Amino acid sequence: MSLLLPILLALLASVLGGLYMLGMFRKRKSNEPPIDKGTIPWLGYALDFRKNTAAFLKRMQKKHGDIFTIQIAGYYFTFITDPLSFGSIVKESRTKLDFEQFAMELVARVFGYHTQTSDHKLLEKASTKHLMGDGLVVMTQAMMENLQNLMLHNIGSRDGEKKWQQDGLFHYSYNIVFRAGYLALFGNETAKNQGSLEKAKKFDRDHSDELFGEFRKYDKLFPRLAYAVLPPKDKMEAERLKRLFWNMLSVKRTLQKENISGWITEQSQYKAENGMPEYMQDRFMFLLLWASQGNTGPACFWLLLYLMKHPDAMEAVRGEVEKVLKETGQQVKPGGPLINLTRDMLLKTPIMDSAVEETLRLTAAPVLIRAVKEDMNLKMSNGREYAIRKGDRVALFPYTAVQMDQEVHPEPEKFKYNRFLNEDGTKKTDFFKNGQRLKFFTMPWGAGTTICPGRFFATNELKQFIFLMLSYFEFELVNPKEEIPGIDQNRWGFGTMQPTHDIQFKYRLRY
Ligand code: HEM
Ligand SMILES: *[C@@H]1O[C@H](CO)[C@@H](O)[C@H](O)[C@H]1NC(C)=O
Ligand SMILES: *[C@@H]1O[C@H](CO)[C@@H](O)[C@H](O)[C@H]1NC(C)=O
Repeated sequence: MSLLLPILLALLASVLGGLYMLGMFRKRKSNEPPIDKGTIPWLGYALDFRKNTAAFLKRMQKKHGDIFTIQIAGYYFTFITDPLSFGSIVKESRTKLDFEQFAMELVARVFGYHTQTSDHKLLEKASTKHLMGDGLVVMTQAMMENLQNLMLHNIGSRDGEKKWQQDGLFHYSYNIVFRAGYLALFGNETAKNQGSLEKAKKFDRDHSDELFGEFRKYDKLFPRLAYAVLPPKDKMEAERLKRLFWNMLSVKRTLQKENISGWITEQSQYKAENGMPEYMQDRFMFLLLWASQGNTGPACFWLLLYLMKHPDAMEAVRGEVEKVLKETGQQVKPGGPLINLTRDMLLKTPIMDSAVEETLRLTAAPVLIRAVKEDMNLKMSNGREYAIRKGDRVALFPYTAVQMDQEVHPEPEKFKYNRFLNEDGTKKTDFFKNGQRLKFFTMPWGAGTTICPGRFFATNELKQFIFLMLSYFEFELVNPKEEIPGIDQNRWGFGTMQPTHDIQFKYRLRY
């Protein structure tokens, strides 16, 4: 008996300790947001969150209001759903809210890449220099030439190219934009290695297509990989693909190409100088491929499909394309030179800009997450302050919080190509909630320090693709009555959404 008691007590203590670790005893303090731990210890709402993030968060918002704390797999996440209060998170100092910790873990799991502390600064610097401003002029040109190689390589040839071809619209758009973006950033084959320019171009077309095929396999596994819930067989496949990409994109191979973008060369060079082992640099290349090519293609699909399903939008965009071409004295005609679409021309397309913004409002849905580094107070737009605990996480999901809010965007589920246009044709930036003007009225790129550094380049890619499609091709849905596919609910939180299924279309060169 005397022996049993201490054992029982020890057991009880460890059970209580376990329950404590599982978060069973966490109680809301008076100045904290409402807390909802879910019904399953430790896991909390992990399953609901993963199953359909948007539907789940909408439900929570209805239940708890503008701010609430929920338990997900052992972590407490405080979601803020009032867009007027977003600024307090986005602008908070890094000593309190840090983005790196969370990203680091994810990147290690998904890409096998271990971040260095200098990574983010370096990425910002390289992106500012090469994906914005003057750097963007060069990138736009490279993108254009590679798009032409992929889309127009048999223009003027006589092998019946005016015949209709059929493809899935999602597959077609993603494929073309992925490959052109990849070639423009990671460089293309040299004529010297291949014997002639024509052979080099053919090589680029073939091997980028192969890369895309493998990328799509990884792409499909990605959400479950990120949540660490892949079954063993898929896990092995993900492991195989990862190795294949490290190899296909290795520094050694990349350096044999030409016209590699400054964005890639500069970051590689710096990492080599910093003593990063080469195998780790190869993994970083894969990370950059993912970040740069996973979102734009799907966005191009949605944009093109919305235009096809909304004839007034298509007509307005087409009118703008024709106007811009005319103003630069260019014309698409049989035997004529390929049109040259510069960065300057892409600055004169307010209608297309609005259509792009509207597409992203409807289909780009990142979750923004920050780790709380010290106990802090969050001030909401209505003046209320909430205490947030160190070790928790703070998160935003702008898709339900603002992009789909009917007060901010009336009839939010509808595609309105001119939603982001003023009456006078200028860019509209005035959107209101509770009578107050919103700074964050759509957030496809995230915000603050982690805002997508490729956003200007991505916007250009979208516009270039649409420009070429409208100028050089006739295209239509195989079944014009077919509805726009739904959104695949598995990918909320990761960027541009993908459709539940593809939709067939046919296309042919106009000349
Ligand atoms: C429609 C296309 C795109 C969308 C919707 C998109 C969206 C995003 C979002 C939401 C983030 C995370 C922001 C956050 O966590 O706060 C992000 C990060 C990033 N994006 Fe994009 N992106 C797109 C295209 C691109 C392109 C074309 C590039 C490069 C050429 C690029 C490079 C990156 C990089 C490197 C990061 C990581 C930034 C960091 O670690 O701070 N993205 N993007
Ligand atoms: C490679 O890309 C550049 C633009 O960056 C382009 O001028 C060149 O024609 C391309 N070469 C091949 C072989 O496709
Ligand atoms: C691509 O690289 C080749 C060889 O380095 C160079 O001659 C050519 O000007 C480059 N093209 C572009 C568009 O930068």
